[in-house]
Amino acid sequence: MKTILDLIGNTPLINIEDNIFAKMEGFNLTGSIKDRTALAMIEAAEKEGRLKKGDEIAEATSGNTGIGLAMISAIKGYHLSVIVPETTAEEKLKMILTYGGSIVKTPNERFREPIIKELKEREKNGEIVFLNQYENENNAKVHYDKTAEEILCQMKGKEINYFVAGIGTGGTITGVSKKLKEHFPNMKTIGVQPMKGTIIEGLKSLKDGYIPPVLDLNTIDEIIDLDPEESVKGRNYLAKKGLLVGLSSGAAFQTIKNLKLEGNIVTIFPDRGERYLK
Ligand SMILES: Cc1ncc(COP(=O)(O)O)c(C=O)c1O
Repeated sequence: MKTILDLIGNTPLINIEDNIFAKMEGFNLTGSIKDRTALAMIEAAEKEGRLKKGDEIAEATSGNTGIGLAMISAIKGYHLSVIVPETTAEEKLKMILTYGGSIVKTPNERFREPIIKELKEREKNGEIVFLNQYENENNAKVHYDKTAEEILCQMKGKEINYFVAGIGTGGTITGVSKKLKEHFPNMKTIGVQPMKGTIIEGLKSLKDGYIPPVLDLNTIDEIIDLDPEESVKGRNYLAKKGLLVGLSSGAAFQTIKNLKLEGNIVTIFPDRGERYLK
């Protein structure tokens, strides 16, 4: 018999068209790849004795990690408060609240460094447990150990020429790229970020000044700056094919189309699209 948490991971890999293969992370329990990260960080903290039933977890997240943490906290008996940028999709906030988490909105310009600093202070004072997906090695590790292993198994030995993924915390691209390159040393990894000063939900430009410690730039061969309009174009194209995915999925897909890549291309579609409908 499966438990609820067994519904995290083991997502399908779909042949979208030609030689483009997408890992459909919207099939995770709360609808995003961040269930994997949330579970990995919580289990590691439990093992280290940092986290005990009844504790309060606080996290800075653009939403999806908050949803994953809220669901797992509901199951395991933790209190959760999440700090989100003020532009976070309402649908995500409603999900966090429904799982029993609480929300603090912060101006987009305070998101990341100032908030991370504040949460570190609060952890030092013993008020909260701060899992910190931007610095927590278990974030990239779960994608190295699991997401990438699943891809290798699902590709059934086919060569992978390109891996394309959006950059948020950098956990996904770092972990998956590292493992895939061990198998295919000539594979090229292409990261996607929104143009400086813009946001594609879940993704933010490194050129805005914050490089998450989880991100290992050595695992990436090229980074593309994408106009957020392109992510909408990609998302709408995929919807017409029957796949309603999120904007960061649209961004990765549109980048592959724009670059006219050849060979076998693997990408990640991090979440479902319902939460971004206006
Ligand atoms: C919708 C979405 N896509 C992509 C990402 C980027 O993933 P990562 O943080 O592993 O770089 C995130 C991260 O929050 C996300 O929420």
